[in-house]
Amino acid sequence: MRAFRCWFGAFLFFSFFFLVAAKGGNNKPFVLVTGGAGYIGSQTCKVLYEGGYTPVVYDSLQLGRKEAVKWGPLIVADLNDRAALDHVLDEYQPIGVIHFAAIAAVGESVSNPAKYYRNNVVGSLTLLEAVKDHRIPVFIFSSSAATYGMPLQSIITELTPQVPINPYGNTKLITEMMLADFERAYGIRYVCFRYFNAAGADLEGELGPDVTRPTHLIPVIVQTAAKEKPRLEIFGSDFPTPDGTGIRDYVHVVDLARAHLLGLEYLLRGNPSVILNLGTGHGHSVKEVVETAQKVIPREIPFVYSGRRAGDPPVLIADFQKAREVLGWEPLHSDLETMIGGTWEWHERKN
Ligand SMILES: NC(=O)c1ccc[n+]([C@@H]2O[C@H](COP(=O)([O-])OP(=O)(O)OC[C@H]3O[C@@H](n4cnc5c(N)ncnc54)[C@H](O)[C@@H]3O)[C@@H](O)[C@H]2O)c1
Repeated sequence: MRAFRCWFGAFLFFSFFFLVAAKGGNNKPFVLVTGGAGYIGSQTCKVLYEGGYTPVVYDSLQLGRKEAVKWGPLIVADLNDRAALDHVLDEYQPIGVIHFAAIAAVGESVSNPAKYYRNNVVGSLTLLEAVKDHRIPVFIFSSSAATYGMPLQSIITELTPQVPINPYGNTKLITEMMLADFERAYGIRYVCFRYFNAAGADLEGELGPDVTRPTHLIPVIVQTAAKEKPRLEIFGSDFPTPDGTGIRDYVHVVDLARAHLLGLEYLLRGNPSVILNLGTGHGHSVKEVVETAQKVIPREIPFVYSGRRAGDPPVLIADFQKAREVLGWEPLHSDLETMIGGTWEWHERKN
């Protein structure tokens, strides 16, 4: 009997050891991160890992980069692949899901809405159904200030009416609606973050935005400074703002990533679902961003003005008091110099 107990004990010990080794060599709880090979997702994986979790990245790599997946396993598969989702949820049994995976080019969403509804809406529905069937209790979703459309006021709270003006914004709003309905029917608690403009790069230089095909202002400025683009195009110089250019709220990607860790732990403590803006409460005009970049980056940044883009609101600034109250979240790194300087250094390191 004693021999059997010894043998059985050894069996259990080695089984556990092999299971842990097979799944990344640690016993940190798994969190499924869709879109974890992308800009904000990969930064969040780093913060999750440092916070005591193992991120399991689920990404099709249609936009993300596998080199950005450094803190846990990578499963290359699409949101719409239900069998792959079932497999990963069975294998890792994550304690929660953080859902970044989406495509987000506003102009393309206007010319090819089918692609956006299939990827972002049908993909999110497929994921949510899998989450329901696997009884995963908590979910975090990346929504967007784009759901507010052209708001009448410049400072936006979570109660500002959501009237998106393009298919991309629609896909985010529809997913928010699905989340609310899934919570009511199946009890999946969630945090829905509405980000304003993500910017900057990892503070230790390990991660950053895709500088090869930038769509956001600061990476485009950096590309122009590096002479990969002849000049920066500033859309609109006749907005009703002090210098005539559009004003946006830029929030550091590391600040965004930290909010996800706080949001996850908020849900794991059993708290109710919540919707939170993530921004800084301060706006910067495009001209101000270019002028700051001109001080931070030791290169010339030529620019031209062109007409406003359809549906571009003059000012979008987040009221983030609710995130401060509910999560104790503060934007700590979201000054323009840090965000521009970090993006420039990331670009230089990549070249
Ligand atoms: N970057 C911003 O300023 C901003 C602002 C508001 C909201 N958001 C939202 O935040 C999330 C992350 O944005 P990001 O800037 O990191 O984008 P990103 O393009 O860098 O990352 C998105 C990732 O999702 C993956 N992906 C897309 N569709 C997929 C699918 N069907 N199946 C599996 N993987 C898929 C891509 O390969 C990519 O790695 C997105 O949902 C975006 O809409 C971003």
